[in-house]
Amino acid sequence: MPTLGVNIDHIATIRQARRGVEPDPVAAAAIAELAGADGITVHLREDRRHIQERDVRILRQTVRTHLNLEMAATPDMVKIALDIKPDYVTLVPEKREEITTEGGLDVVGMGDRLVEIVHQLQSAAIPVSLFIDADANQLKASAKSGAKFVELHTGNYANAIDEAQQHQELEILTKGGKVAIALGLRLNAGHGLTYWNTSAVAQIPGMEELNIGHSIISRAALVGLDRAVREMKALLG
Ligand code: PXP
Repeated sequence: MPTLGVNIDHIATIRQARRGVEPDPVAAAAIAELAGADGITVHLREDRRHIQERDVRILRQTVRTHLNLEMAATPDMVKIALDIKPDYVTLVPEKREEITTEGGLDVVGMGDRLVEIVHQLQSAAIPVSLFIDADANQLKASAKSGAKFVELHTGNYANAIDEAQQHQELEILTKGGKVAIALGLRLNAGHGLTYWNTSAVAQIPGMEELNIGHSIISRAALVGLDRAVREMKALLG
C-alpha cells in the first residue's frame, strides 16, 4: 500500500483570501498527521499565492512524519530548500499564470541546468523527486539526472472524460511506473486524485507515495461545515 502525502496548500489558499492568520496550515498538518497522513506536502510557489516561507519553516519544526517541499527548479528556491532542509523536494514546472501545476517537468529540455539542481540538493542529503509525465524519454532523463524519485503526473488520468480514456491513461501510468522502476527510480504519483479515482493508481506496482491535496481539503470543507455552523449557532444563543 502506498503512503499518503497530504498536500495542505489549499488551507493556505483560504487563509490568503483574507491575508490573515487562519486557517493555519501548521495546524492542518498536525490534524492530518493525527488522522494518519504519512507525509505533509506543500508547494512554495514563487508568487507565494498560498503557502508562505513562514509556513515551511514552522512545518520543518512541527511535522512528525516527513515534509515534502514542492518547488520550481530555480536558484532562489534551491537556496530556501538548502536552508530549510525538507525530507525531500519535488521539483515541478511553474508558470505564474496557471491555476495549478500544468503538466510535468521537461527534464529532457532542461538538461544540465536541472542535473546541477538535483546534484546541489542531493549533496545536501535532500532526496529529489521529479514531477513528470509518464513518458519514456522523460523517465530516462530523470534517471540520468541522478534524482532518487519521480512523481508521475496523474492529471491526464484525473481529467479523463470517460471510462475508456481513464483506462488508457491508467495504462500509460502503469507502463511508466514499470519503466521508472526498471531504471532504478523510486515511484510517487499525484495531481487531481480524488475519492473516486485514487484506488486504481494506488495499485500500480511499485507505487510508494501518493500526494493528494485539493480533493481532501474540499471534502474537509464540506464534512466540517455542519459542525462549524452548529458551533456558531450555539454562540448566538
Ligand atoms: N503533486 C504535485 C507535484 C502537485 O504540484 C500537486 C498540486 O500542488 C499535487 C501533487 C496535488 O494535487 P491535487 O491538489 O490536485 O491533489
